[in-house]
Amino acid sequence: MADPWANSPTEETPGTDLHLELSGRGGLRAQLMAALREAIRSGRLAPGTRLPPYRGLAHDLGIARNTVAGAYAELVAEGWLTARQGSGTRVARRTAPLPADHAARPRHQDRRRVVHDLMPSTPDAATFPRAAWLTSARRALAAAPNSAFGVGDPRGRTELRGALAEYLARARGVRAEPDRIVICSGFAHALRLLGRVLDGPVAVESYGLDFHRSLLGEAGLRTVPLPVDTHGARVDELPAGGARSVLLTPAHQFPTGGPLHPERRAAVVDWARAHGGLLVEDDYDGEFRYDRQPVGAVQGLDPDRVVYVGSTSKSLSPALRLGWLVLPGRLVDEVLAVKGPRELWSGVVDQLTLADFVARGAYDRHLRRMRQHYRRRRDQLVGTLADRAPHIRVSGIAAGLHAVLELPAGTEDTALRAARRQGLAIEGLRAFRHPASPMPPRDGLVIGYATPPDHAYGAALDALCHALPGPPAGAGGPDPVG
Ligand SMILES: Cc1ncc(COP(=O)(O)O)c(C=O)c1O
Repeated sequence: MADPWANSPTEETPGTDLHLELSGRGGLRAQLMAALREAIRSGRLAPGTRLPPYRGLAHDLGIARNTVAGAYAELVAEGWLTARQGSGTRVARRTAPLPADHAARPRHQDRRRVVHDLMPSTPDAATFPRAAWLTSARRALAAAPNSAFGVGDPRGRTELRGALAEYLARARGVRAEPDRIVICSGFAHALRLLGRVLDGPVAVESYGLDFHRSLLGEAGLRTVPLPVDTHGARVDELPAGGARSVLLTPAHQFPTGGPLHPERRAAVVDWARAHGGLLVEDDYDGEFRYDRQPVGAVQGLDPDRVVYVGSTSKSLSPALRLGWLVLPGRLVDEVLAVKGPRELWSGVVDQLTLADFVARGAYDRHLRRMRQHYRRRRDQLVGTLADRAPHIRVSGIAAGLHAVLELPAGTEDTALRAARRQGLAIEGLRAFRHPASPMPPRDGLVIGYATPPDHAYGAALDALCHALPGPPAGAGGPDPVG
């Protein structure tokens, strides 16, 4: 008689995968029981876990079905497993493994007591457009050719590059043909790739993300700080610094908040043309402009001298890990050579979903909705400070998801300590200063107003007001609080 569970590889075997190693010592049934007990004792099989049906496990282990049935029955009798008609065999609830050793947990899992997150990093996670994303994912999966599920093209899916080329030209003023777009997993990934093709030294803004400066440093590129004022980076100082490339946040200087002045936009492109230099344009939150028309990308002025980089980290979620580079034609092959012959970073389902999401206008709709949402948040922040701390100047409020509260000299550390006592996760301006900046350090708090959920935002602002220094002596206004 044919063995019913000795399936050929193409026949379906029932059940779930379960990794068990038989010791090879003693009978098969005893070996299987020992392996199951060990998996339960160590917590690898959690209480309530449903075990694979006899036939499936027998097939996977290459043993007889009766052996599995016997082992399960004996473990049920011993109390390790339970068997109920209709719900299969499961790990018994009362054999819960010993709790994991807390002291042995990785340190990064320890979290300071944070009640309100005002770090300038994340959008409001509650607003991720789940339903629209799901609709796009369904549509994209249904339409995708089988070849989409083979090895990924490191340039990124053609559907996504096509949709982005149209969107970026229309909404951000980028001159983008799909052939010059390379998909990446966000700005940090783009900078890792560019670090291998840029010429150094690289001029950077005196205030910016330390993480980005480190990525350039890891690529062996020295960074030269450019002073920053209310009109963005002082690009007139580029020739003096001897830089060959420059990294800027022109739409909304991070973190101080000004847009790069139109004359400086033209000047940086002139510098790049005259010196054979290259501008890397970090357009991390360019879609969020509240008080007037969006500031378009500098890349539109000269696509051969500017690398434009965009990301979904502010517009949708930093957990998606999707971004794009729009490259001068001559750099496409160089960047692809660094990226390698296969796509290793961006999953095809997310790429196709984003392509549909952008092409069908859902991205525009989401951004328009979010602009209203964040504008209200910004207005509430500005209004609360005007009422409760009128001596604190707020800057960088015309765009983005954060603002800077300017503090009197020498008060930043005290304000940060007070904020942490209030349970606020918050960052001071000094944390963003290039260590070699020629600018004297400024005291301030960088307030990300997007992250708290709606119901907690008022309380977060209240806690912030309690942490701020009071007005200077004799300056009138309301009494300092806290
Ligand atoms: C200045 C700046 N650039 C870029 C990004 C986006 O980085 P990534 O796409 O790697 O998440 C951020 C954070 O969202 C940022 O603050």
